[in-house]
Amino acid sequence: MGNRVFVFDTTLRDGEQVPGCQLNTDEKIQVAKALEALGVDIIEAGFPISSPGDFNSVVEISKAVSNPVICALTRAKEMDIDSAVQALKYAKRKRIHTGIGSSDVHIQYKLRSTREQILEQGVAAVKYAKKYVEDIEFFCEDAGRADIEFLAKMVEAVIAAGATVVNIPDTTGYTLPWQFGERMKYLVDHVKNLDKAILSAHCHNDLGLATANAISGLANGARQVECTINGIGERAGNTSLEEVVMIIKSHPGLGLETGINTKKLYETSQLVSRLMKMPVQPNKAVVGKNAFAHSSGIHQDGFLKHRENYEIIDPSDVGADASSIVLTARSGRAALSHRLLNLGYSVSKEDLDVVYKNFLDMADKKKQVEDEDLRVLMKEIEMTK
Ligand code: KIV
Ligand code: ZN
Repeated sequence: MGNRVFVFDTTLRDGEQVPGCQLNTDEKIQVAKALEALGVDIIEAGFPISSPGDFNSVVEISKAVSNPVICALTRAKEMDIDSAVQALKYAKRKRIHTGIGSSDVHIQYKLRSTREQILEQGVAAVKYAKKYVEDIEFFCEDAGRADIEFLAKMVEAVIAAGATVVNIPDTTGYTLPWQFGERMKYLVDHVKNLDKAILSAHCHNDLGLATANAISGLANGARQVECTINGIGERAGNTSLEEVVMIIKSHPGLGLETGINTKKLYETSQLVSRLMKMPVQPNKAVVGKNAFAHSSGIHQDGFLKHRENYEIIDPSDVGADASSIVLTARSGRAALSHRLLNLGYSVSKEDLDVVYKNFLDMADKKKQVEDEDLRVLMKEIEMTK
């Protein structure tokens, strides 16, 4: 098994399903071009049969983007596949992503069918799609809760029918990281024709475990990860692309690599946030406003002595602004004198004691002390001399 992980971005499909995050075709093209520059391997551009607008977006993205594979989602139905084939007409490299429910709860209560019929429908969909497109991904929806033996049977059957990638989604975000990893390992150990396809991890974040589950899936044999920028997606979202990529980069011991240009992560995150009108939470890993901001005295002192005391990612590696020291009532003398030095004030120890006391009085009143405030404090000291 190679160590290259293929990054499948579904910001424009699973991400765009979020209420209020819909984009027009021009905006989707902007995102698709940014994803291409970022180096994603596959862009899931939409679900063509779902609306004329989505169909058109898949057509236009296929024309606008050359390097990544362009993927279109379908249900396991011929009419969906026909629509996807048409929408992908201009794609230089194309993939159809078809599939069906694999858990008993989906089979019984959503599809009102039986395991046998579902297996047959899935296999038929792959065979039908394969007549038009070589690269076929099959999703076993709700694989996180499926009976594992039935799941293995489904994976083997769709590979035999021509699937090149089999997606193992934890659709409801239910599994624990080691359980998701065990599922992946079970498939690796039991699916006989797995040399003809790769497994993909598609995890949702209902319990805040999407990234952990995706990493566990990769550590146990998946070689594609499905993710979105900023982790946006249905309900609590999907695995966040920037998190999974930076975990792989920060942990060489995993023995994995991606083709992502990490220096473009921050600007891509900002673009998606702005176009989708979906703010990035300040404490979001890797791309949040506070991801490289240090505010407590102990951390600031340690950070100023040696960056790696409190930072495991260099902000320039993800294209973010340099780390910042935020001056608040929790800051210490080290941070204050560092900022004063940056502003051109070299203060004696005695003066620092006075400024620090005045600084704390001010910081208790204001939430954050800015450079302008420090200049005022320094003027007061100079006037008392
Ligand atoms: O979460 C899911 O199961 C999906 C499939 C359509 C791949 O998004
Ligand atoms: Zn999903």
